Parts: sequence; C-alpha cells; structure tokens
Amino acid sequence: MSGAKQKLMIHSSQRSKNRLEAFPSGWFVLCFSEELERGAILKRQFMGQDIVAFRTASGQAVVSDAFCPHMGAHFAHGGRVEGETIRCPFHGFCFDAQGSCTKTGYGTKPPPNARLRIWETEEFNGILLVWHHANGRRSDWKVPALEDHGWSKLSYYSWKIRANPYDTAENAVDIGHFATVHGYQDVSSMNDLNLDGPLLTATYGMSRDGGAFRQKNRIKTKFKITKWGLGYSAVEVYVEEFGLLSRHFVFGTAINQDEIDMKIAVSIFKIAHPSAIHPLLALIPHQLLRKIVQRASLKAYKTDVSQDFEIWTNKTKIENPALAKGDGPIPAFRRWTKQFDPRFEVEKKKGPCLSPSAPGIDSSQVAISQGSLTPPEQQISASEDYQRPAPNTSATSTRR
Ligand code: FES
Ligand SMILES: [Fe+2]
Repeated sequence: MSGAKQKLMIHSSQRSKNRLEAFPSGWFVLCFSEELERGAILKRQFMGQDIVAFRTASGQAVVSDAFCPHMGAHFAHGGRVEGETIRCPFHGFCFDAQGSCTKTGYGTKPPPNARLRIWETEEFNGILLVWHHANGRRSDWKVPALEDHGWSKLSYYSWKIRANPYDTAENAVDIGHFATVHGYQDVSSMNDLNLDGPLLTATYGMSRDGGAFRQKNRIKTKFKITKWGLGYSAVEVYVEEFGLLSRHFVFGTAINQDEIDMKIAVSIFKIAHPSAIHPLLALIPHQLLRKIVQRASLKAYKTDVSQDFEIWTNKTKIENPALAKGDGPIPAFRRWTKQFDPRFEVEKKKGPCLSPSAPGIDSSQVAISQGSLTPPEQQISASEDYQRPAPNTSATSTRR
C-alpha cells in the first residue's frame, strides 16, 4: 500500500463519529467547465445522489438525475446528447434542459409523467455550480461571478477524500492550525471576520519559508477569503515582495455522507516583480512567466491542502470545543454555518438565524490592493459560546 493511502486509513468506528448527518444547502461546484465538452455526459455522485451533467449542442450545461424517469436506465451508460436533449440508451426517450420528454424512441406521444428532474445550475469563471437544498427549495441567493478580465485561465486539481464538509470549510478560519499543520509563521489574527447572510469574508497575513518558489527569505503574504456558503471559497493572495496577485479557490462538494470531492484551482493576475522571485524570470515573456508561476503555485497549494487530509479523515466532532486564545473565530463560524444545515431549519424560521439574502459584490470589494485590505465591519471574539441544538431532521434532495 502506498504511503498516501496508508495516511488516509481510518477505523470504521472513527468514521461514524464524523459522518455528515445531513447534506448542507447551498451552491456546490460539480465540475470545471472545460471538463464538460459539448455533447459530453459526466457521471457524478452529489449529496448522496446519482446525477449527470451534460452539455447540449448550443453549449448549455444541464444537470439532471442520472436515472431515466421512463424505466430507470442510467444516462451516462450508453446515453448521448442529441441537440438540446439527452437521449436515454434504453428506449431512446429524449429530455430537454427543462426535463420535458420531447420524444420517445418509437415516435409515439411522450407520456406526461415522464419528467426528468433538472437541478438548478450556474456557470461562470470556468466552474459549474449546482444548487442543493435539503427541503427542495430553489435558490434564494447566488454566488456572484468574479471579474476575470486579465486573470489567467484556471489550473486545477481534485481529490476524493474522507472528510466532513463543515470541517473542511472551517479550516479557512482555523488560525491555530496554520502554524502547526502548514508551518506558517507570524499569522496575524483574523479580527475582521465579516458575516453577511451566506457570505463570509476575512483577511489575515502570515509569513512562511520557501513556499512555491523556495525562497531563502521568509515570504510575507496577505490573504482575503471570500466564502459563499460551504461549497465555494475564493482566496485572493498577495505577495508584496513579488507584486504577485493570485486567486486560490477551494470547492468542497459532498459526494456522500463520508466523502468529499475536494477541488482546488489557481489563477494569476500579475507578477510585477519577477526578478524578486528569480533573476532569470525577468527575462522571459509575461505569458510564459505566468504559466511557470501558476504551475508552481498550484503545486505548492496541493501540498498545503493535502497537509490537512489526515487530520480531517481521522478527527471526531467536538460540539463545544475547548478554545484558547490563539484559536480562530470558530464559534462565529459555526453559528454562520447553521443557515446551511437543514437540522436548523426550524430555528431559522423562528428568526434567530442569519438572513439568506445575499448582497452582490464586485471585484473592487474582493481585490486586494497593495497594503490595504477591506476594513473590519464586525469584530468577532473567539471566546463567544457556541451552543448547538439537537439534530432533528435528515436530508432529502432539491428539485427544480
Ligand atoms: S428507461 Fe429511458 S427510455 Fe426507457
Ligand atoms: Fe489547513
């Protein structure tokens, strides 16, 4: 067995302690746009259900249940895209992007109850997002597209890991582990956590040795995190010494109660001082420079993210953590996550939970300018208590 596999081994008793009890609501990335070519059908598990994504002849991405409502064949096993429809391999029924049966394989009238469940989707910035709501409601907020003019095309990587999506999302505000797990130093405290409906923003700074470019000096970096729910996280990373502005994305999507499709992606905006990285880099064309830096950034990012896997895979749940000074704003983060947890729907209806309305943001709000990040609007103390009520429901799937 390889070292990587050994590291992710867990005992079944441990696994059950950290199982996902209810699939969260929100927008989750199913795939990168370029993975779904015109005419292609992708087979995926999403929130414990079998679904497919297909791209029609006109280029529309459609996500539907995997099983044909006629007699249950799986579209990804012999099905094909025909024009703006998906054709079932079993009896040739075709379904359009709204889920209507447009024809049977026999030229007879489509039965009115042959309706294919279509999932709500959004596609922008090279990603395809799918809305999931445990109680089947349509989306009441959206993830805004980022301005991507001048940014490089995404390069990306994905893993299937055993983890709970609440843990993986919490990682971004868990300041305490940055030094112990990732080796970051001089982490400035995250005292400007902003929570606004499904939007979370936070900034912090840190320094580290080496990093993507194996520098001898310690590299100072500023981060601005923008999370929309549990499934979408964009981090703008600015390294002043190199004049390097990049975006690092993390997309965690629950496959089932034990596993997550963990995707990462990197995009580069500019490298103003390439000679500070290496003298030779100043001599090469900017496009090539960006490619080299992007490749190095993704490699380093893969290393960083995978350092958490063994912890996530083997940890248990601690409902009321024994927090200390130096921990991140864990209680505030956990309260924020309740709006995505169907077990708290009752509480949400009564009013104490966060509003689901989402303000729009533009690129000026998420861009990091040299030396100045978004000022704090709401300060959260790590000493706030976190109380969790008893779970009361289990999840079902959303329907458009
Ligand atoms: S099962 Fe799909 S057409 Fe019959
Ligand atoms: Fe981490």
